[in-house]
Amino acid sequence: MRVNPLRRAYIAGESWFNLSFAGLNPLYHLGTLTFFFFWIILITGIYLFLPFKGSIDGAYHSVEWMTHKQWYVAGVMRSLHRYASDAAIITMLLHLFREFSQDRHRGTRWYSWVTGIPLLWMVVPLGITGYWLVWDQLAQYIATGSAQLLDAIPIFFGSMATNFLPGQISDRFFTLIEFLHLLGQPLVLVFALWFHVRRISNVNIMPPRGLAIGSFIALLALSLLKPAISHEQADLGIVPQTLNLDWFYLNIYPLLDYWTAGEVWLLTVGITVLLIFLPWLPPKRSKAAAVVDLDNCDGCKQCFEDCPYDAITVQARTDGKKHKHEVVVDPALCTGCGICVGACHSANPFRRAEKQLSPGIDMPGFPVHELRSQTLAAIEAMKGEHKILVYGCDHGYAMRQLHTDNTRGISLYCSGMLPPTMIGYALKNGADGVLVSGCRTNDCYNRFGERWTEMRIVSEREPHLRARVDHRHTISQGAGPTDRREIEQALIRLREKLVKLEQKANG
Ligand code: HEM
Repeated sequence: MRVNPLRRAYIAGESWFNLSFAGLNPLYHLGTLTFFFFWIILITGIYLFLPFKGSIDGAYHSVEWMTHKQWYVAGVMRSLHRYASDAAIITMLLHLFREFSQDRHRGTRWYSWVTGIPLLWMVVPLGITGYWLVWDQLAQYIATGSAQLLDAIPIFFGSMATNFLPGQISDRFFTLIEFLHLLGQPLVLVFALWFHVRRISNVNIMPPRGLAIGSFIALLALSLLKPAISHEQADLGIVPQTLNLDWFYLNIYPLLDYWTAGEVWLLTVGITVLLIFLPWLPPKRSKAAAVVDLDNCDGCKQCFEDCPYDAITVQARTDGKKHKHEVVVDPALCTGCGICVGACHSANPFRRAEKQLSPGIDMPGFPVHELRSQTLAAIEAMKGEHKILVYGCDHGYAMRQLHTDNTRGISLYCSGMLPPTMIGYALKNGADGVLVSGCRTNDCYNRFGERWTEMRIVSEREPHLRARVDHRHTISQGAGPTDRREIEQALIRLREKLVKLEQKANG
C-alpha cells in the first residue's frame, strides 16, 4: 500500500511516542483523553463556582482571592481548570488530525467526523466565555473583539459594541455570560458528545488508568509550578496594551487587527465547511458489504458481538430453522472490514466435503473460500526449510514485500477477518509457522480487528484456535505500513522458535 506523506509523518510521530510511553501511547487514546480532561474541567469548575461572584466588580476580586489568598486549593483548582482546558484542545485537535491522516473519517465513519465539527464550535466558545468571566484586561479585549464579531452578523438589534463603552456594561450582561459558561454551553456540549459517539460500538470514554493518572499528575505539577493568574482588572476607559493570549482559545481575536469581522467569519466558516465536506473529498470506494447465508448461520451472534461498526443486528429466525436467531447486515453501516467472517465459526476451512466453502457470513469481494485457496497456493509456492505464511492486513505492512523462497504473505481486509481455524489449516497443509500481523498493537484501523484476533488465538474469545493446533508455531506481531524492521524481526523470532522445536523433536 502506498503511504501518503501525511500518514507517514503521523506514523513516525506515533513510533516516537511508542518508544517514550511504551504501552500507554496517548496518541492511541486521544478521544478518551479529551473526555478525561472534560471531567477535570467539570469538577474543578463546580468547585470554582462556589466562591465566584458573578458581578462586574465581584468577578475580578473573587478570582484574585482564589488565586492569591487561597492559592493552595482554589488557586490550584483554577490552574487545573485552565490547563485541563488547554490540554483538551490539544488532544481534540490531535484527535481530528489523527482521524484524518489515518483515513478514519470517510465511508461510514463520516458520521463521527461530521458530528465532531460542531464540537469545535462548542469547545472554543466555552473557553472564551471562561476567560470573559475573570473580567480582567484580557476579558475586556475578548469582550470588545466578540462584540465586533457579533455586530457583523445582521441578526442582533443595535450594536453589541456599545455594551462595552465605559459605564455601559451591566451586571445583567455578566449574569448571561455566567449562565452560558456554567450551564448552557456545558449542557449542549454533553449532548453533542453523546451524539458524536453514539454510533460507535463498544465505545470507551475513559483512557487507561495509567494514562489518566499520569496526565493528572502532569497538570497538577504544571498548576503548582506555573499557576494561572489574571491580568489587571478590566477598565473600559483604556485600551489594554500587553496581553498574554491563550492561543488555543483566543487565536481569532488578533486577526481583527488586520481583517474586518466579516473576513474573520468568512475564514472560520470557510474552514468549517471544508472540514465538513472532507469525508467526501474524495469519497471512499466502499467494499461490498458482508452477506449472510442463513443456510450456514446458526444465529450464534458472535459476528454481532464483534462488529466494530454496529452494522449487524440480531432478529428472530425467519427461515423456519430450529435456531432462535439470525443476523442481518445493514449495508449502509458495513465498511467491509471482514471482522464478522473471522468471528463466524462456520468459516472453517476444514469443512472439506464442500467444494465451495460457505460460512454463515462472508465478504463477496474476498470470500473465505478464496482465502482457503490462497492459503494452499501460498504454501505450495514456498520452497526450502521453515516455511512461514504471514496473514497481514491491507492497512498494515504490505504483504507482497515479504515474499522470499520460504515466506509468503496474504493480505486480508483486516487481521480480524482471519478465522482462527485457518491457522490450523495452514499448519496442517505444509506451513511450518504462521505469523499474524495486523495493524500496530492498539491501533487497528478497524478498532478491534487486531485485538479480537489475538484473543481468539489465545482462546479468550470465540471462535478460538483449536486445542490440537500446536500454538508454538504461531506468533503475532502488530506492524504499521512502515514497520519493516518489526516484521523482519518477528520472522527471525519465529524461525528461531521453529529451529528449536525441530531440535527438540529430533532429541
Ligand atoms: C470534544 C472533543 C471530542 C471528543 C471528546 C471526542 C471523543 C471521541 C471518542 C471517545 C471516540 C471513539 C474512539 C474509539 O473508541 O475508537 C471518537 C471517535 C471519532 N471522532 Fe471524536 N471526539 C472529539 C472531537 C472530534 C472532532 C473535532 C473530530 C473531527 C472533526 C472527531 C472525529 C472523530 C472520528 C472520525 C471518530 C471515529 C473514529 C473511528 O471510527 O475509528 N472527533 N471521538
